[in-house]
Amino acid sequence: MTMNIMKKSLLTLALFSTSQLSQAGEVEVLHWWTSGGEAKSVSVLKEMMEKDGHSWKDFAVAGGGGESAMTVLKTRAVSGNPPAAAQMKGHNIQEWADLGFLTNLDDVAKQGNWDGILPKVVADTAKYEGHYVAVPVNVHRVNWLWANKAIFDKEGLKVPSSWDEFFKVGDKLKADGIIPLAHGGQPWQDATLFEAIALEKLGNEDYNKAFVELDQDVLSGDKMVEAFTTFKKVRDYIDSNSPGRDWNVATSMVINGQAAMQVMGDWAKGEFSAANKQPGTDYTCSPTPGTSNSFTFNVDSFAFFQIKDKENQKAQQDLAKTILSKPFQEVFNLNKGSIPVRLDMDMSKFDQCALDSMEAFKATADTGGLVPSMAHGMSTTSYVQGAMFDVITNFFNDNDADPKTAAEKLAKAVKAAQ
Ligand code: BGC
Repeated sequence: MTMNIMKKSLLTLALFSTSQLSQAGEVEVLHWWTSGGEAKSVSVLKEMMEKDGHSWKDFAVAGGGGESAMTVLKTRAVSGNPPAAAQMKGHNIQEWADLGFLTNLDDVAKQGNWDGILPKVVADTAKYEGHYVAVPVNVHRVNWLWANKAIFDKEGLKVPSSWDEFFKVGDKLKADGIIPLAHGGQPWQDATLFEAIALEKLGNEDYNKAFVELDQDVLSGDKMVEAFTTFKKVRDYIDSNSPGRDWNVATSMVINGQAAMQVMGDWAKGEFSAANKQPGTDYTCSPTPGTSNSFTFNVDSFAFFQIKDKENQKAQQDLAKTILSKPFQEVFNLNKGSIPVRLDMDMSKFDQCALDSMEAFKATADTGGLVPSMAHGMSTTSYVQGAMFDVITNFFNDNDADPKTAAEKLAKAVKAAQ
């Protein structure tokens, strides 16, 4: 379906449907935070809203990366009954705002001085044509390598800081019967791994050219071919049961010592924390090989929908306010593994991984190393992202696929999806 036809059908359906009025002071919140660490994090928001006298209607749609949640959201929105707020990423926010579904949050933003407390790069993703339509919750760093410390100590190995080292370390681990890399074979996880490798091969500037500017030459160029080549090689360090595996199951393999490492955003830390594991003692967090000067950012936000009931609108405004309050920012991000989205927070309760992340976030904002995650919907539209996912996943799952052809296919698929 083209963008225009989809826009029209969504709007027509929305206009013709009767909106269901729900109870006074209720907020219905759609999210895909269903793993142990995630559920713990979102329950903080529920408790805070209930403490303020509102009722919370949980609308959780399982599925890491959020594709199922976005599909369900479309169904609800076209029936004219969207939730008050829905977890969402940068470009999706713009797409929903463009369709006319989102509400204006400028009043509450002004009262809370959001422009003053949020980094500009983050605030921009929550605005549509200069107006706030969403509230950012956190900043996740995606280019992280998680490692089981006991395995590395026992094997006398160092956590790899280049892909060459990764292959050497991986060979030794394999020889000793340990799965080097825990991975879940799902398109968004394949893309998470691929973008980490591509970032190392391309560097910050070309990463942006490929995944933000969608530059055909870089997408099909030699460095992208190298990225596909390394990506394919990494597959030999993943166990054969990976297809379909959820990301948190992969994290638990690192937690319980079945696998040595995982490439995953720092929501994985939420799982380590929920299992009472400590960074530096039980596990380590390091930038994915070759990317210590980069920070692939992924900002979770809640997009706020237009709803009719006056009491619910009030609850909705309170929700927006609560999300950016210091107490919520602290507890939520401690559980979630991310860093607060406000830069004026007391970070004394945060662990070393979070402190490293905050430092890298600030440093890379100055050097150009702060790049948006393609795999997590921050760098381009959902249409282009979907086209990239297809090429990346098909390549990963095809033994005979050729890296050069894959890079050419990537460029073509992106062009067709624009
Ligand atoms: C979201 C995270 C979430 C992860 C796994 C990412 O796209 O940004 O908040 O924990 O998916 O579901």
